[in-house]
Amino acid sequence: MTVEEDSRGRRKWKPPAQKPEQNASSRSTVKKEKVRKKTLSKSSREWVDRQLRDPYVRRAQEAGYRARAAYKLKEIDEKFHILKRGARVVDLGSAPGGWLQVVAEAGAAKIVGIDLLPIDSMADVIIFEADINEPGMTDKLMAALGDRPTLVLSDMAANTVGHKQTDHVRTVGLAEVAAQFAIDNLVKNGTFVAKVFQGGAQGTLLELLKTNFDDVRHWKPPSSRPESPETFVIARGFRG
Ligand SMILES: C[S@@+](CC[C@H](N)C(=O)[O-])C[C@H]1O[C@@H](n2cnc3c(N)ncnc32)[C@H](O)[C@@H]1O
Repeated sequence: MTVEEDSRGRRKWKPPAQKPEQNASSRSTVKKEKVRKKTLSKSSREWVDRQLRDPYVRRAQEAGYRARAAYKLKEIDEKFHILKRGARVVDLGSAPGGWLQVVAEAGAAKIVGIDLLPIDSMADVIIFEADINEPGMTDKLMAALGDRPTLVLSDMAANTVGHKQTDHVRTVGLAEVAAQFAIDNLVKNGTFVAKVFQGGAQGTLLELLKTNFDDVRHWKPPSSRPESPETFVIARGFRG
């Protein structure tokens, strides 16, 4: 602080000069931090703890994969041999891009991905930031691919609302959209892989796949967390 005299010679204290906006914002940052710490919900805290303990998260970081989900596709491929050099691949629900990386590494010739969320660009991958249900979107994906896909992947998952049945129905709905896209577009003998949830409400999807593919399996890769209801359907030999 400094001391100043006014026009009548009275002394008064003057506080040091401040940049008001800077002080206001730093005060509010501190406040926000406190709120964030206090309001981190139990489930968010559990998620953070799980991420820190999860060996697949560490492996993915070390290997440069954008998501631990990359290992689910790698394990599916080790068991079912779905990734081929020269493949044309559509990946539905791609963000942040772990599956896209695995498909690219396997030597796919053409890759198109779509997600509601932004995805950092990748060499030789065409990315759409959009909803698969948007009118005309499937035509845009096909135009970008330039020819029928040999493989359609879907790891799409609806944002969970915490109500088991609702989450289940919404994710199965996305798998049905993906299956219909595959059936409308795959080459003969093509492959479809999608995330589904275990238990109930899958009858229609299974029927649809069994009528259209020679071989339909369900499998939960080891990297899929045991407590997660997700599993994967692997449909091979599209009848065309
Ligand atoms: C589990 S993440 C995918 C992870 C991805 N396979 C990877 O390896 O990085 C599921 C994604 O599905 C996307 N999704 C959900 N509904 C969608 C929709 N209607 N259209 C496009 N993407 C959708 C979500 O935004 C989310 O990013």
